[in-house]
Formats: sequence, structure tokens, C-alpha cells
Amino acid sequence: MKKLFLIIPFYFLAIFSNAQTIVAEPEIGDTETDLVQTPVAIIPEPVSILKKTGSFTLPENVSILAPKNEGLKQSIAFLSERITTATGKFVSTVTTANHPTIKLILNSQEDTQLGTEGYKLHVNPTQVVITANKPAGIFYGVQSLIQLFPAEIESKELVNNIKWKAPCVDVTDYPKLGWRGLMFDVARHFFTKQEVKQYIDAMVRYKFNLLHLHLTDDEGWRIEIKGLPKLTEVGAWSVKKVGTFGDFTPPTADEPRTYGGFYTQEDIKELVQYAQERFVNILPEIDVPGHSLAVIASYPELSCTPDAVNYKVRSGEKIMDWSRGAPPLALVDNTLCPANEKVYSFLDTVLTQVAQLFPFEYIHMGGDEAPHNFWEKNDQVKQLMQREGLKTIPQVQAYFEKRVEQIVVSKGKKFMGWDEILEGGVSPTAAVMSWRGMKYGIQAANEKHNVVMSPTEFAYLDYMQADVSTEPRVYASLRLNKAYQFNPVPASVNPQYVIGGQANLWTEQIYNIRQAEYMTWPRAFAISESIWSPAEKKNWTNFVDRTQQHFKRLDLAETKYSPAIYDPIISVRRSADKQLLVELTPEIDGLEIYYSFDNSSPDRFYPKYTSALQVPKDASMMRIITYKGKKPVGRLISIPVSDLQKRTK
Ligand code: ACM
Repeated sequence: MKKLFLIIPFYFLAIFSNAQTIVAEPEIGDTETDLVQTPVAIIPEPVSILKKTGSFTLPENVSILAPKNEGLKQSIAFLSERITTATGKFVSTVTTANHPTIKLILNSQEDTQLGTEGYKLHVNPTQVVITANKPAGIFYGVQSLIQLFPAEIESKELVNNIKWKAPCVDVTDYPKLGWRGLMFDVARHFFTKQEVKQYIDAMVRYKFNLLHLHLTDDEGWRIEIKGLPKLTEVGAWSVKKVGTFGDFTPPTADEPRTYGGFYTQEDIKELVQYAQERFVNILPEIDVPGHSLAVIASYPELSCTPDAVNYKVRSGEKIMDWSRGAPPLALVDNTLCPANEKVYSFLDTVLTQVAQLFPFEYIHMGGDEAPHNFWEKNDQVKQLMQREGLKTIPQVQAYFEKRVEQIVVSKGKKFMGWDEILEGGVSPTAAVMSWRGMKYGIQAANEKHNVVMSPTEFAYLDYMQADVSTEPRVYASLRLNKAYQFNPVPASVNPQYVIGGQANLWTEQIYNIRQAEYMTWPRAFAISESIWSPAEKKNWTNFVDRTQQHFKRLDLAETKYSPAIYDPIISVRRSADKQLLVELTPEIDGLEIYYSFDNSSPDRFYPKYTSALQVPKDASMMRIITYKGKKPVGRLISIPVSDLQKRTK
């Protein structure tokens, strides 16, 4: 028999001394029969769910029986916190009990089907049992259990008049992929340690287990490195600007450089531990040789360009010319010089500390979008090419990447880079994070590189998820239904080398944590289901139903999300006789769309959209709203006709 332990629940006092109350609507017709039909809405969809008759009701005193194991602390704390906060019930953790309410069991003999993250969840009329091989499995079982209770379980305040019931089920569940990542760009805009923790809290609810922190870019260096103080004294600070990032006027010398921030090494240790306790690894990214203006503003001698002494951390002004496509032309040199030995000793210093701070096995070294135009003109680079027999500039970058990999490996870590590292001759041991579509990921895996799939096409969370009239403008769109089509292990790939799937949140146009959440959810539901659930379990209609139930959960959890699924897809074209035509396509079933051209705000008594609309001759504004029955669900969308006209060009 395993050793069990007793914890007096410290949260008990806090809950009852400080409880605010939400009074929920009484449940009408809440009979046993109704409960059997209560839809189970777990995201990501489990491998198997057997729905049984009956339901489990939380008793007044909830006892959690758990073996003594440090790894279970978070599962118990999370479960207790949710139950006490939302329901006000008393929770105790016990060592022995005749009939505990919730039993957490770590298998003494491994259940091979479950692996390290799988679990079994049995909800019976009087007891819940979660079993797993490892604590991570228990943690995910707890997440699924919470999702079986009414949405109000997510409340930050006490909720009365709720029957705290969960349908009886037998769930067996385990992930498809072991690397289930979200990338959070904390370089373009800085997010505090507390905000990163908030992001972790939300991601683990949907069984993500990897947080990729993009720690360095042209707009900021975000990690303290001992011995290189300018990285954070100079490199972490820009001029605060708001609006459309990328189009800002260049800052003047008198504008204060006080916008930004960085994590001290103590902050990083705290974040790593916080993440680890929630079964999340943090992958650090130091993006070189491009995206390095913050480094160069701090230490200009690391560039190939004498002018760099005048360079400043970017505040959203234009520094690249993309008119020729990729790689871009740099207007200011944001690259480290591959022909300068100081660069490699700089990276050695940085990576020694990064390797010590982050226990995760990989370090991501960027490699994306490095402009080569300053290298092409540089004498040191020409000499390097001659000395090393490098024929092309991509080969120069490949030389750089191999040197960087050697440094990473010398610190006991594995090297990963964006898929550009495949160009010019890649080291066979490099791992690749694909982003420019699936094709480079497929190529890399078929060449036996470990690959994480994070293609723009399905997994770029910085892209707009609704019409441009409701979103901060970005150059591309990615609606929820497209994100849901993400298949990280397509038939054409050698599956053995696909170690994971990931979605990426770049933050050029994201100025605060609420917007970071808005851009993440619900698309990260789609990504989580694509990388956790078996492909045959995915079903768009059913996913949309579950997503809508989770909107209520996110509301109560005070996590922002995008309601874009309720807004129509707006497309504009010219008819054969040059008339301006607008088509409105709902993203999900069950919506009615109403519109106006008379400048007033439509409701459900306005004309209903049925087929392509011809814009009346002198109309100046189109307004659109979506209803579900009698309830407005979409946002009021207002688009000047002049904007519609521009869209046809
Ligand atoms: C990237 O999106 N530049 C990796």
C-alpha cells in the first residue's frame, strides 16, 4: 500500500472570509434524464469517452485521497481551489478514507497505453477516480474532470443555486504528440512575469505542455545575462508608441526610451519552476543572426556595419524592405556578423547562462528572416567565404548555424531553429521548427531531423481571426475553421520525426495581455485538439458546440477570447456589369445575418442576408450583425463602402 498524507486545507479560511456571491439562474427541469443528456464538452476531445447513466454530485465535504507525491501537489491545489472558490464546499486532502469523494491513483504497474501524460477518469454516482502512470496524467485527468462540471465551476467567486453535478463517464485519454506548444513573443512587446504565469494558467487547462518564449528580437532583449549588462540596460527599452506597429515614425533623440522590460535571472527561475509544477517545459529562443537589433544597439561591435554605433532598439518604425520577398532587405543592419569571432564568444556567454536557467533539453536559436544585404558588402564576410570555401551567402548562414549549434551542444543542449536553417546545408543533428507552411517540416522530417510543426497556414495566432474591420490589421487571416484543419502528422511525413505541434503568438500588434488572450482563444482550442486528439476524433460541428460551451467557461475564468466565429466572412467582388457585390458567409451553422445600408444599426427586424448583396448606388456604410434565434451573438460590424470598394482592387 502506498503512503498517504494529510494536508489541512489552508485555502479554507481564505475562501469563507472573502467570498463574493454570484447567484445563478435556477436550473429548470434538471432531472436525472436531463443530466444523462448533458453534453460532455471536453477540449481537447479525449481518446475515448463512455457516457454512463446517472450523475455525480459534489457533496458538502469533498475528500481527495492522494498518495504522497510532490508531483500531485498542483493537481490537488487546482482541484481544491476550483471547488472551494466556485462552490464553497469544504475540501480536505486525506491519507485514508472509507469512501473518498475523489481518488487520485498513481499506477504501481505501468499502464502502457497511457504513457507519461495519459489518464483514466471514472465518474460514478458517488465517487470520482483518476488513475495515471505519472503526475502529469493526473493533472490532465483533473482538467477533464473540471470540464465535466457546470461552467460556473470556473467562477472566481462563490456561485449559489447550482447543482454541482458531473455526468457519469469512463474516459481513457492520452496525447498524440509529446510536444504541445504555444509560442509567446515577449520581445515585440514585453509581458510581465505575472502575465506569463497567467498565460501558463490558461494553456494548461487545454493540455499544452510547452511554452516557447521568444526572448529576443529587434524590439527588445528580455533576459538578464551576467557580464553583458547593456543587453538589458539598453536592449530592453524602446519608445512607447501605439497604433499600427511597423508604420511608426522613427523616434527622435529626445523621446524617452522607457518602454519595455526584462526578466532577471531570478524571474526566469521562478517562471521555470511555475511552469514545471504545471507540467510545462519552457523553450527559450535567442533569435540570431537576424532579428538582433536589440543586441546591436547594445553592442554595435557584434554587427558587420560601422554605422551600427548609431542604431537603436526598434520602436515599431520600418527597418526592413519586404518588397522583393524573403529574405528581406535590411534598411538598418539587424544581423550579427558571422565573420566576427566576438559574436561566437558573445553567444557562448549567453548560452552558458541560458542553458543553466532552462532545464529543457532544447534551445531555439531562431535563424529566421535574416537579411543578407549587409553581409554581401562586408569584407570580413568575403574573407570568411574564401577561408571556409563558402560559395553563397546562404552557405554563410549555414556556417553560422553550425557554429551556433556547436556552442549549444557544448552546453549539453540540443539545437533547434526555424526552417530557414535547412538552407545552405544543415547539420544532421539540428531540430527544425517549421513555419513557412508544412512543406519544410515534411522535408526536414523525411531527412530525419526532429521537427515541430507550426505552419503559418494553420497555427499563426498573430493572424487576424475575423474581418479586418474588427481586428488590429495584420497581413494575413486565419479563421478558427482553418486552424482546426491543422494536421501536424500528414500522411506524407515520416511520423517518427514529428516530435510536436505548436501555435505561435507573435506580438507586433499585441500591446497587452487581454489582446494576447483574445488572439490565443479559441484558436488554441483547435490547435490543442489537433495535437492531442486522434485525427479520427476530430469533428468540426461537435468542436464548435464544445467551443461555445467553453466561451462561457472563459468568461467566468475572466480569460478573453475572440467571438469571431459569430461574425460572417465578408467577401467582395464585382459582377460582370461592374456592380459591387458583398457576400456574407457564416463560419458556423445556426446563424442569421442582418444588414443595413442606411447608416443605422441593424437588428433581427432588418433585412436578413440570403444571397450576395448589391451595394446601393449612393450608400456610404454597410452594417452587419449576426443573431442566433432572437439573441445577437455577432459584433456590430460597420464598413464604409469606400473600404468595400478598395477590397475589390
Ligand atoms: C517567423 O515567423 N519569422 C518564424
